[in-house]
Amino acid sequence: MELKDKVVVITGGASGIGFAMAERFASEGSRVVIADVKGVEEACASLAAKGAQVDGRPCDVRNEADVSDLMRFAVERFGGVDVAIANAGILRDGLLLRVDKATMKVIDRMSMKQWQDVIDVNLTGVFLTGREAAAAMIEGKRKGVIIVLSSISRAGNFGQTNYSASKAGVVAMTVAWSKELARYGIRTAAIAPGFIETPMVLKDMKPEALEKVKQQIPVGRLGRPEEIADAAVFIAKNDLVTGVVIEVSGGMRL
Ligand code: NAI
Repeated sequence: MELKDKVVVITGGASGIGFAMAERFASEGSRVVIADVKGVEEACASLAAKGAQVDGRPCDVRNEADVSDLMRFAVERFGGVDVAIANAGILRDGLLLRVDKATMKVIDRMSMKQWQDVIDVNLTGVFLTGREAAAAMIEGKRKGVIIVLSSISRAGNFGQTNYSASKAGVVAMTVAWSKELARYGIRTAAIAPGFIETPMVLKDMKPEALEKVKQQIPVGRLGRPEEIADAAVFIAKNDLVTGVVIEVSGGMRL
């Protein structure tokens, strides 16, 4: 797909990887719609100041009406949806069970809230974004691309029962969609980043855990959001890419 003047909708686009993608697609001449629960105005203003064609909309991806309004907004504002990036995601890490080893008593459990909060944003949010984007692409008679953010944690990471389950789930959806939607000219792919320097990692992870992680990355450093944005541009441009997950992780595996 040629990206100039194409309409790219990015959830969670006001921060981190999503914002880097917004910047990168804008630099390719795309028209970008930033959707987020916070920071939309600031993100749009900073891109517009650099000459980007950009607009934004508050959107909570857990909310069905918000997500269908988002796609309607993209159609009304810029004429359609060509690329949708289901990027919004959260972490609520914790052990499945915490056990007092002296007594073998279970002293804590991953709560239903910890489980459900992550599933609602990372799995249901991606389902709604993909479904509504595909509907807008088909009804707008446009070939399109849906990109979802998975993670190397999809393999099953220590302390991430909820997050790992959600990130494995989005890959399964991506493959299912590649089969269902190819007949409408829609491609779908997932990106599985390793550990990337964004607020999610720098603020939400404990410094000692982050130090341990760095030692396990073959390239010896965290990734940069721009390196994930590059992968998204590659997927969007290459018409043979569909139904796959691309790892961008500096060689780190779990
Ligand atoms: P971030 O925390 O910097 O950005 C996430 C954005 O999503 C924020 O702007 C936040 O406001 C927004 N968001 C949260 N809940 C939302 C909701 N209900 N509706 C709409 N927007 C919502 O995180 P980062 O690191 O940029 O992550 C982006 C994606 O990449 C996530 O899906 C994350 O799981 C995934 N990822 C990130 C990795 C990393 O190392 N940073 C590694 C692997 C995957």
